[in-house]
Parts: sequence; structure tokens; C-alpha cells
Amino acid sequence: MAKKTKKKSRIAARKLVTRDDPKTIVLEQFRMIRENINFLRPDKKLKTLLFTSASAGEGKSTLAANVAIVFAQTGKRVLLVDADMRKPTTHYTFRTPISPGLSHLLTRQRGLDEVIKRTQIKGLELVTCGTMPINPAELLGSKVMDDIITEMKSRFDIIIIDAPPILLVADAQILSNKCDGTILVVSSGKTEKNEVKKAKGLLETSKANVLGVILNNYKLEKDHYYYDYKGAIE
Ligand SMILES: Nc1ncnc2c1ncn2[C@@H]1O[C@H](COP(=O)(O)OP(=O)(O)OP(=O)(O)O)[C@@H](O)[C@H]1O
Ligand SMILES: [Mg+2]
Repeated sequence: MAKKTKKKSRIAARKLVTRDDPKTIVLEQFRMIRENINFLRPDKKLKTLLFTSASAGEGKSTLAANVAIVFAQTGKRVLLVDADMRKPTTHYTFRTPISPGLSHLLTRQRGLDEVIKRTQIKGLELVTCGTMPINPAELLGSKVMDDIITEMKSRFDIIIIDAPPILLVADAQILSNKCDGTILVVSSGKTEKNEVKKAKGLLETSKANVLGVILNNYKLEKDHYYYDYKGAIE
């Protein structure tokens, strides 16, 4: 019983403000982020966007999902990929089964068509984690991952990839090198300056194209909204 309650509250925590509460100021903030990304990719060459952060719980998955939604709202074909194979959450967010998913693609057990899931949002499709593997970094760094990304790029306008924190495991560093652009999520008042610097250094080492930083959890003065984003790529 206790377990059931815990699971329920975890699912409830996965509210998506751009989907569930579209009138707030936050939707505008997400639109701003989308337009900033569009501004950075006038020739649409930045198709694969990786979301990572220095440490855990800074809002990567929340931001990745909401950015995917606001792109889909402009009629784009969007794919959200859960590449945080250590702590996957997109299946909670979109209330779908975790499998089949990315792990099945990486081990060539399934093809892209077999793992892609529709969401309630028109234009937004999903690749969940699949079975959580014991060797995510190895799988994500493989040539198979390159082939998967190439196929995704041929079928979608934009691919948003949710990755683990960069200071904790190698996965995000490996993936950032395979993606057209990387966005670093920083939680206001939580992430230490030197952690952000270290994260940036690691991304530079892996020759990632760092598009910018999104400052999450920024508290606006006299603001009464639950979700506060100081918007945009800085
Ligand atoms: N701006 C915000 N305002 C309020 N709650 C937020 C905000 N951003 C994220 N959260 C909440 O904080 C928690 C952690 O967010 P999220 O799962 O997106 O972080 P994460 O960086 O993906 O974490 P992990 O490193 O564990 O994958 C979630 O419960 C999410 O709903
Ligand atoms: Mg996450």
C-alpha cells in the first residue's frame, strides 16, 4: 500500500506545465526558449538537442519535455528520447510503459517504428528508456547509437534528448559529442558555480556544441506562480 502511494505521487510530480496549464507565464518562458533555439538554428542544422546538467535533480527532464511540447505546438515533428537510462522518467511524464524503448534499439532487438510511442500532444512522439541496461555508457557510445540518431534525424524535425547529469557519469559527455547542440540546465541557488564550470569543461573536452544555459527554479520577486523559469538560453 505504501509502495502504491509512493508510485502515485511520483507520477503526479510529472505535471507538464505547457500541456496541463497553458495559460501561465511559464508557457511564455518556454516559447522564449524555443525561439532562442530557433534563432540559433536558422538553417535547421541543429536537429539533435541534448539536455544535461552538472548534478542530479536540476530539472533536465522537466525542461526537455516542455521544450519538446512547445516545438510540437508549432507543427514540428518532434521526438523526445529518454537517454537517461539510469534514472528514466519520460514514461512517467507521458504515462506510457517504459518498454520497448531505447535499450531495445541499442541492442538491435527492435526497430525505431516498433519503439516510438505517440503522446497526447500532436506532433510529439516518444522513445522511452526500455529495459534499464547495466552498461548505458557503452551502449550510448556505440556505432549503433550513431545509426539510430541518423535515422531519427531523417524522420523528425527536431530530436530532444534527455541525458543524465554530466558530473556523475560519462553518458552525457559521450552523447553531447553525437548531438548537434547541448543545453546545460542550471538550478538557481542550487548548482554551485564551480560545478557549472566543471560541467562546461567536460562538454568542451568532448567537443560538444554548447548552445547555452537554462536557469531553472529562478524565483521571481512578488511572483505567485509555482513554476518559475528565468527563461531562455543565456
Ligand atoms: N521550475 C520548477 N519548478 C518546480 N518544480 C520543478 C521545476 N523544475 C523541476 N521541478 C521538479 O523537480 C523535480 C526534479 O526535476 P527533473 O526530474 O526534471 O530533474 P532532472 O534534472 O531530470 O533530475 P535527474 O537528475 O534525477 O534526472 C521534479 O519533481 C520536477 O517536477
Ligand atoms: Mg531526469
